Amino acid sequence: MNVKRAMRLNGKKILLGLTGGIACYKAAELTRALVKEGASVQVVMTKAATEFITPMTMQALSGREVFVDQWDARIANHMPHIDLSRDVNAILIAPCSTNFIAKLAQGICDDLLSTLCIARPTKLPLLIAPAMNVEMWQNAATQRNVLQVIADSIQIIGPGAGEQACGETGMGRMLEPTQILTELIASFQAKTLLGKHVLITAGPSFEPIDPVRGITNLSSGKMGYAVAQAAWEAGAHVTLVSGPTGLEAPYGTHRIQVQTAQQMHDVVMAQVAHQKQAVFIAVAAVADWRVSNVSEQKLKKSAESRLPQLEFEENPDILASVAALENAPYCVGFAAESERLLEHGANKRIKKNIPLLVGNIGHQTFGQDDNELVLFDESGYKQLARADKSSLARQLISEIAQRLSSAK
Ligand code: CTP
Repeated sequence: MNVKRAMRLNGKKILLGLTGGIACYKAAELTRALVKEGASVQVVMTKAATEFITPMTMQALSGREVFVDQWDARIANHMPHIDLSRDVNAILIAPCSTNFIAKLAQGICDDLLSTLCIARPTKLPLLIAPAMNVEMWQNAATQRNVLQVIADSIQIIGPGAGEQACGETGMGRMLEPTQILTELIASFQAKTLLGKHVLITAGPSFEPIDPVRGITNLSSGKMGYAVAQAAWEAGAHVTLVSGPTGLEAPYGTHRIQVQTAQQMHDVVMAQVAHQKQAVFIAVAAVADWRVSNVSEQKLKKSAESRLPQLEFEENPDILASVAALENAPYCVGFAAESERLLEHGANKRIKKNIPLLVGNIGHQTFGQDDNELVLFDESGYKQLARADKSSLARQLISEIAQRLSSAK
């Protein structure tokens, strides 16, 4: 059975505000992405935003009428600044101009969007994605206003650095729609690991035989990357040590790429020594052995058809090395089994001497978008029903956070 990827904003109502700036073109893509993730999107634009993209475009993409004017008579009580925000789950301003940040910092209400933001219920999250020229971003007044809006619990997403529409380069670019989407999705997740450092391994290892060949396995890295993303969503500082995969680094995480088990081991041990990690999650499918007689040159078929003689030596066990440290982080292992999962999983947790082990059937999950997990701890086991890997990763992070707080 294949489980469809969950729509990550299913049932969420988002008020998307556009203010004046060339980045308005990215708001079109953002709207599509929000709708695709299951959100219903109500667009409100400032007059300046309509100079960059038409309300008709935004209406077509969101499937809803767009509001610009404070005195809009389409709302029966003539109070769009109140009614439009009352049943939404978040307000997102993208792009958010220099001027609009200044208005938010000062509480100025001189059009529908600014009035609506000031009139929002206290608990309604407001997120802004700044977009402006580098000098405007660095300007002392802007930086003052940015500090003020942060102090007022407005969440700032970005900006990024890079080439700008004006031809200059630097901070001030609005983040890409997929990045804004990821931040918005994360804003709805419980911050169960807020400020904690979490170290994760993912993907396969690659053990060379000669300069062009090697031994690896079918791990795609998807589960480990999903766990890294979920830990970031929960507010953690995430370092992801990854074997070779075709995946992009999960947003917000620090990824270090390696090839061999030995390299993965060395990077992990250096990270643990350098920064106290609250949690270590070993998701990587690490080769237990490596070739000890790696050939410097490509092995050739010989005239006598002799087969290459490979010799092996054991790789270090990364999880066991971390778990054996004094003041070890909370260690979580993964076990990819091919049969008798309940028996092997429970035994492996004890053998590895770790508080939590996550079991799955390896060949049924490698490369797939969904999975089924069994969590083994000292009190027994718990099954997490088949779901897409992002949902399972979030459940796992929440289970880890609960155990971490009750272990205190
Ligand atoms: N692991 C590790 N370093 C290794 C081998 C495994 O950190 N050199 C970690 C994996 O990331 C995973 C767990 O240990 O979290 C898997 O344990 P292991 O006993 O090696 O699993 P299998 O290889 O499945 O064991 P076996 O071959 O005995 O079934």
